[in-house]
Amino acid sequence: MRIYPLFFRAAFSWMDAERAHRIGFGAIRAVHACGLGKALARFTAPSGALRTEAFGVSFPSPFGLAAGFDKEGRGIEALAELGFGHIEVGTITGQAQPGNPTPRLFRLVEDRAVINRMGFNNDGAEAVAPRIAIARAALEARYGADRPVIGVNIGKTKAVELEHAVADYRVSARLLAPVADYLVVNVSSPNTPGLRLLQSAESLRPLLAAVREESGAAAGRHVPLLVKIAPDLSDEDVDDVARLALELGLEGIIATNTTIGREGLSAPAAKVEAAGAGGLSGAPLKARSLEVLRRLRAAVGDGLALVSVGGVETPADVRERLDAGATLVQGYTAFLYEGPFWAAHINAGLAVDAGLARIRR
Ligand SMILES: Cc1cc2nc3c(=O)[nH]c(=O)nc-3n(C[C@H](O)[C@H](O)[C@H](O)COP(=O)(O)O)c2cc1C
Repeated sequence: MRIYPLFFRAAFSWMDAERAHRIGFGAIRAVHACGLGKALARFTAPSGALRTEAFGVSFPSPFGLAAGFDKEGRGIEALAELGFGHIEVGTITGQAQPGNPTPRLFRLVEDRAVINRMGFNNDGAEAVAPRIAIARAALEARYGADRPVIGVNIGKTKAVELEHAVADYRVSARLLAPVADYLVVNVSSPNTPGLRLLQSAESLRPLLAAVREESGAAAGRHVPLLVKIAPDLSDEDVDDVARLALELGLEGIIATNTTIGREGLSAPAAKVEAAGAGGLSGAPLKARSLEVLRRLRAAVGDGLALVSVGGVETPADVRERLDAGATLVQGYTAFLYEGPFWAAHINAGLAVDAGLARIRR
């Protein structure tokens, strides 16, 4: 019997979703702070067979935590102790901002989904960078070269006009590239007005070139650069992003962010409507996310890393993404429903696969 889903139903499912997130994340950090996480990590650490190379970086597992869970780099070490091969911190913006008014996070339990319109609530790049630097040094001291990887996801400050977006992303790149193992330009959140317009090739080209230039200069090394796209792009737009990523020599594409679509949900229409605007994530995103991954892999060949995210729940889902051409896989929403041992469960399933594959050879 799995304990967490019972606990979730009894406690968290009745609570405001953002409050539940705060309490859950607080508990994960508390386990780390009191030293229990070290003991836990003996059981949750990914098997060595799962080590994966992507864009010159070594990941302990192909499976990691997607952006949005740890928006401000407050729990990187604690999350690493749960078995995630990488933690993508952010989205972080050039300036601190409060995000949208609450409530802004809603569960659709019957769909194993959530709707969020958080709106990039975060302390801003200047405050978050030193926090990531401290976590990075701690991971290095503890795990050495085999440490979990820290991705840093940056986005546009809401108050900055779209025509000044490049300068705003430059601020984040300058401050955050030095502490990032890889950097992600997020142009796909539905919760910052106009942001997704930056996904067009003519807007993306100067933006990515500027972030590339700024991050290299600030970090004094080559920082792998990826772009994160929405599942709501047309197939032609997906192809355009793939072409552009190849042209600019990006290291990869992360697909996908949340969707503004509401199709195929089991939750009552009134409940979905009451949640209002925002991005839908979790199981309903599974099919489109996989479709975008397949399309991207066909478009880029072996040329780029593809990070697949959207609706991943089980080891079989992760395996399916890897088989469809993903280099790495991420998840978020299922973590809310499956609980703290989710990454360890995924890693264990993948390790069994790896063992079986070795026996077959
Ligand atoms: C509450 C919440 C907040 C999120 N915040 C961000 C964010 O700040 N930046 C980002 O790139 N993606 C964000 N995402 C999107 C996730 O990283 C992921 O792309 C999406 O949820 C699909 O994966 P999933 O179905 O496993 O959740 C957020 C998702 C959720 C549920």
